[in-house]
Amino acid sequence: MKIAVLKETRPGETRVASSPDTVKKYLAMGASVVVETGAGEGARFSDQAYRDVGAEIARSGADASNAADLVLKVQRPSQREIAFMPRGAKLVAILSPYAEPDLLRAYASAGIDAFAMDLMPRITRAQSMDVLSSQSNLAGYKAVIDAAAYFGRALPMMMTAAGTIAPAKVFVMGAGVAGLQAIATARRLGAVVSATDVRFAAKEQVESLGATFVTVDEEAMKTAETAGGYAKEMSDDFKRRQAEFVSQHIKKQDIVITTALIPGRPAPRLVSEEMVRSMKPGSIIVDLAVEQGGNVALSQAGEAVDAGGVVILGFVNVPGRLAADASNLYARNVLNFVSAFWNKDQRALAIDWNDDIIKGVGLTRDGRIVHPGFGGAPAAPEARATPASADSGGGAAAPAQQGTTHG
Ligand code: NAI
Repeated sequence: MKIAVLKETRPGETRVASSPDTVKKYLAMGASVVVETGAGEGARFSDQAYRDVGAEIARSGADASNAADLVLKVQRPSQREIAFMPRGAKLVAILSPYAEPDLLRAYASAGIDAFAMDLMPRITRAQSMDVLSSQSNLAGYKAVIDAAAYFGRALPMMMTAAGTIAPAKVFVMGAGVAGLQAIATARRLGAVVSATDVRFAAKEQVESLGATFVTVDEEAMKTAETAGGYAKEMSDDFKRRQAEFVSQHIKKQDIVITTALIPGRPAPRLVSEEMVRSMKPGSIIVDLAVEQGGNVALSQAGEAVDAGGVVILGFVNVPGRLAADASNLYARNVLNFVSAFWNKDQRALAIDWNDDIIKGVGLTRDGRIVHPGFGGAPAAPEARATPASADSGGGAAAPAQQGTTHG
């Protein structure tokens, strides 16, 4: 069983799909591992570090993929990369199938069995494989650090002989994985933190971190969560009242961090241009949802926009700004996934197409699209199709919504 770890080719991608630590584990499981030269550069893992644990280094992605049974990547491959992957190979990556659905046909016609780590169902057994959580957690932390770096003032209260500095007021919109980590980080830095979300469960989590939870309608929040723990699209009336409330609250804030997402839909627009302009000059907004269309009017992907003295940060691939940690955690997620389907006797991957995890992440098999969320037939004749969750609020987003929530 040969595993290939490729160097990422998408612009700005600094992460790598396997760390030297996880390579060591694959070797101990009986696999051979070939790493494309420079694959770990962005995360500061040298070729030598991979060699030291027993990996072979290949000169190119094509060389690394040659005769590979399993190809590990962070981001979805380009058409060129797909072309050099051997027929029958399995591909594991954050494939973002909604972003580029055409690639599913490319995997199928190239005979690649593709598994999207970003569709991991949120069931207890898959928690250690949940890449959205591992990466969002780092993004939430980094959003606060980025905001602090641009903010021309301190976050904590400081009482000095020269006078007192008031603590910064931080408002976090969306209290999922990223939002909760942003709250915790801002609190550690001494800010006064408030937060909002549409899911009722978020209230207690926010309060347990020492922040104030603000909302317009607790009753409406009680039905705003899907079975999988995600948010649904809210009614127009809720959105109007939320906007009125936010416009009053936001004027008094120094830093606003937005993280709100609805699976399979564009990010909800929570901060209008008028709200941005109502903030004091020197205030900072971080829009973590910028790549999904943005929570904030005026935010631009990859830019720091100055809107009348209010700076809106729209960094893309925020986890990649912490490449070493993001790679280590992602590599662990992937290792846990591969290990769960590893046949120890055969020392090879043995995919069980009836398993709920595989039904959630498996996109293509033997030249066909099999994922029901993307028009595929059930994974195997004997398999039950994954039912689309009626309350997912996101149509094809159903796969990540099934199962029991935890976390
Ligand atoms: P996400 O990244 O899809 O969305 C971020 C946050 O935005 C969510 O909390 C969502 O409720 C909120 N949001 C959506 N629309 C909004 C609006 N109009 N206004 C304000 N907030 C809005 O969600 P994420 O971070 O993936 O987590 C969602 C839930 O799943 C959380 O309860 C989390 O604890 C749970 N979870 C469960 C896991 C598991 O069981 N394995 C793993 C990770 C998270």
